[in-house]
Amino acid sequence: MNTEQILSQTLETPCYYYNTKLLRTTLAALNAARANQRDIHVHYAVKANARPELLRIIAEAGLGADCVSGGEIKAAIEAGFPAESVVFAGVGKADWEIRLALEAGIGMFNVESLPELERISELAVEMGKTARVAFRINPNVDAHTHEKITTGLNENKFGIAMEDMVPAIRMSETLPSVSYEGLHFHIGSSILNLDIFGRLCERINELQDILEAEGIQTRNINVGGGLGTHYEDPDVHPIPDFIGYMDTFRKHLKLRPGQQLHMEPGRSIVAQCGMLLSRVLYVKQGHEKQFLILDAGFTDLIRPAFYNAHHLVQNLSAEGVEPTERYDVVGPICESSDVFQTGTMLPPSKRGDIIAFRTAGAYGEVMASQYNLRRLPGAVFE
Ligand code: LLP
Repeated sequence: MNTEQILSQTLETPCYYYNTKLLRTTLAALNAARANQRDIHVHYAVKANARPELLRIIAEAGLGADCVSGGEIKAAIEAGFPAESVVFAGVGKADWEIRLALEAGIGMFNVESLPELERISELAVEMGKTARVAFRINPNVDAHTHEKITTGLNENKFGIAMEDMVPAIRMSETLPSVSYEGLHFHIGSSILNLDIFGRLCERINELQDILEAEGIQTRNINVGGGLGTHYEDPDVHPIPDFIGYMDTFRKHLKLRPGQQLHMEPGRSIVAQCGMLLSRVLYVKQGHEKQFLILDAGFTDLIRPAFYNAHHLVQNLSAEGVEPTERYDVVGPICESSDVFQTGTMLPPSKRGDIIAFRTAGAYGEVMASQYNLRRLPGAVFE
């Protein structure tokens, strides 16, 4: 991050600041980690950040796209992702989205229920197309992450239980215009403990044995996304441990000859390349606290309010100055949950200072809203 360069610009805040150089370096590291392995396919999870400028860079690096809506499929294809590299997940695919995906010729529908499978089959018949489908399996693995971003437990709404898999595949064989192509998993997000992915592999191996005993052949295994990023110290860990991540699957997952491995990382690719920039509007002295009131609120970055997420806060205008003051860092929105952090030590700060929320490239700008009829944050690129 080049603070001088940031401060020298006339920035309209709040805005997202993206370091495209870091994004390219991250993508190069990811590609190096899977070097020469043509049977590893990485589909970027567009939900993490759908900025066209970033999507284009990610598409150029040769990744596919993981989409969860018709809007994301359109954005991915417009940004240059080949349609056949698109996988489409989501528990509630609407007819128009299924039609759009069939028309575009996407690579795979990740199917989450039997009624959905039937609907895809009906629409594919109508359109004279064949839908390639993978079943999303709920492997009942605890990702030990925030409850709102855990997805692979039986109590979650996602996927089909492992025990119901054989009948589901048998059903797909009887339906017209769908072809069974694979298994899809995703256990949750923000996972830094790689052993959890090892446990996922064990569950996949168990399922593969069951399916094989039934004579069912599976061409594609999609392990989903979920690799975490370092929110505490972005400058120490700007690039995730893609090698360790890939090695975990190489070591634990028993792929059958010819089987293709798919992954859907989102956060780990874009989190560190983005930050939210805001300005101090007022420094307010309370009776027991002092508040740093910013022009950014949870409409710009909802993760702290929604998930109690921590983003490193820095006063870029006072870089290098000792953090001697304690502040509650808050936004302007008329809700008491519009608090980014409490009791944060920062250098003495004043109106007009630029405050950065680091590691905000993933699930930051995409989750912005216009609540209170606020303006959406803009974006600048380095
Ligand atoms: N594949 C599927 C099926 C998913 O549901 C997700 C994320 C991903 C891939 C990408 O996961 P990642 O590599 O980014 O962890 N808004 C939350 C995160 C929600 C994640 C939802 N699914 C946050 O701000 O932490």
